[in-house]
Amino acid sequence: MAVAEILLAGARGLLGTALLARLGDRAEGMDLPELDITDPGSVASALDRTRPELILNVAALTDVDRCQMEPGEAFRVHRDGVRNLAATGVRLITISTDHVFTSGDSPFTESDSPTPANIYGESKLEGEHEALARPGNAVIRTSWLFGREKGLIPWIHGTLALGGEVRAVADQTACVTYVFHLVRALERLADTGEAGIFHCVNPGETSPLRLAEMLRKRLGAGTVRSVSWADLGRPAPRPVYSALATERGIDLPPIEEALKEWLGTRE
Ligand SMILES: NC(=O)c1ccc[n+]([C@@H]2O[C@H](COP(=O)([O-])OP(=O)(O)OC[C@H]3O[C@@H](n4cnc5c(N)ncnc54)[C@H](OP(=O)(O)O)[C@@H]3O)[C@@H](O)[C@H]2O)c1
Repeated sequence: MAVAEILLAGARGLLGTALLARLGDRAEGMDLPELDITDPGSVASALDRTRPELILNVAALTDVDRCQMEPGEAFRVHRDGVRNLAATGVRLITISTDHVFTSGDSPFTESDSPTPANIYGESKLEGEHEALARPGNAVIRTSWLFGREKGLIPWIHGTLALGGEVRAVADQTACVTYVFHLVRALERLADTGEAGIFHCVNPGETSPLRLAEMLRKRLGAGTVRSVSWADLGRPAPRPVYSALATERGIDLPPIEEALKEWLGTRE
């Protein structure tokens, strides 16, 4: 481990891997067990060795159902972990989620009041408060991340391409976020030093069902079955509507462009 401008926590995950590839030598990436953000000693030791100007926190428990069943663990990582990072006094950018919203009829902006949909959303919202208690820190809300191989879109595409059946949820509307677009926005934010809450998604709302039908038509393979979250019997309730929009000028390309770019890596 070396001195670096940016300490990236949660570096082995979907977003962390893409960020590390983009930031190169600017960032030192760490993940469990080397860095456990819930352990103040582990955070202090990582800081000691890295001496960063910025902490970029993408560590999380992204299994929404596990968070519902193990709320203590969810709050430990999403609230206490962010509190530990903020307490270092180093500028912090931390990632949050559209699950801080539950229902609505037009995209939520940064000035809308959150009403979390589940424990995952509640614990992430408390983490937001921990981060924003210190001036200069930033919270980035995003949703339905997808990369080249991981996330909702690659999963649907992969299943259909093999001729499989996708049970696609019809009663959840949100935005997708192509991880490489988000990474560019995060890099800009790291450099400009802007603070507060930012919504970063590919504008344009959709549902898993709409995505699955679009991909099935393109591929001419597999089948799509429309289901509801109730049919799936999962422990955590999901937001019915949690599309995001920004009034802070961090514009990502629209959903059509994100999908075209991703499909271009496949076809
Ligand atoms: N994926 C999405 O669709 C989505 C949507 C909205 C918001 N977000 C947010 O975006 C961020 C990045 O998500 P992602 O999809 O890249 O997540 P991910 O792939 O699940 O990666 C998260 C990483 O954090 C690590 N981690 C967990 N607990 C930790 C701890 N105590 N200390 C240090 N590292 C820890 C995980 O390790 P283990 O794998 O060993 O647990 C994992 O490597 C998160 O804040 C997430 O809440 C994601």
